[in-house]
Amino acid sequence: MPSYSAHAPGKIILFGEHAVVYGQPAIAIPVHQVRANASVTPEINGDPGVVRIQAPNIDLDTRLDELNLDHPLAAAIEGVTASLGISRIPACTLRVTSTIPVASGLGSGAAVSVAVIRAMAGFLGQPMANEQVSKIAFEVEKIHHGTPSGIDNTVVTFAKPVYFVKGHPIETFNITNPFTIIIGDTGIASPTKETVGDVRLRWQANPKKFEAFFAAVGSITKSARAAIESGHPVRLGPLMNENHALLQEMGVSSPTLDRLVQAALDSGALGAKLSGGGRGGNMIALAATGNEKLISLAFKNAGAIRTITSNIED
Ligand code: MEV
Repeated sequence: MPSYSAHAPGKIILFGEHAVVYGQPAIAIPVHQVRANASVTPEINGDPGVVRIQAPNIDLDTRLDELNLDHPLAAAIEGVTASLGISRIPACTLRVTSTIPVASGLGSGAAVSVAVIRAMAGFLGQPMANEQVSKIAFEVEKIHHGTPSGIDNTVVTFAKPVYFVKGHPIETFNITNPFTIIIGDTGIASPTKETVGDVRLRWQANPKKFEAFFAAVGSITKSARAAIESGHPVRLGPLMNENHALLQEMGVSSPTLDRLVQAALDSGALGAKLSGGGRGGNMIALAATGNEKLISLAFKNAGAIRTITSNIED
């Protein structure tokens, strides 16, 4: 069996995080500047059935049978073998690397799962269609996130901008005029599982208030899609600001995120918001023509540990 390699990009949520868990639409785009890679190499002289796993970014060098079944890498491999009806994997080494910061809202967990699922299925001689890859990655996401919407596995599998509604088939849409987003990383790790869990508790304590927040975010997302499709991305700026204000009210922003959002606006961004789970991780700003560098600099001066400039086009 020959070696097989695969990869998946990072992602950011443009609009609709958290509300998407409750059935509202969200928009997410792939971030190709960062990615997860997986390769599976046969071990001709290896012990039969032994799958060695090396993930140097997390200092992991072990065997599959030494991992708990709820370990995300074990769950991804198990998802592949169960789906293909394979009971024994030939001796091999799975190597996983990633440039996507962990717990930062850039979809690191989903991208690692997707790369591993693709590489293992390909190694086993049965490359999988995106729908199947995304389905298995969603099961693994439940270990990372508890109650994920499915948006992360969808956008990193299909590697296209998506308009996502939980439980609905993937919808893509036209980006009529390109636009530029600057991503600022707070450097503060914030597991999505925790912020999603906190929003759930607050929603349970105050369902009417939170359902109104979710509905308001849903209509912002719909307006954002219309702005993108009609070729008026500048209209996204105020929508981002409104979405950020609602996320603040839901309790998932933080002083650092708010500081970066303000720094972006002060440096001429057309709008800015946190992106992903919140409380840390990343935020995004919409650049006006020619001010990308100013915004990046403003982020760095306000404490961002890195910035990524992403041109959003078809
Ligand atoms: C995480 O990228 C987006 C959240 O809405 C969680 C989810 O949709 O699963 C916060």
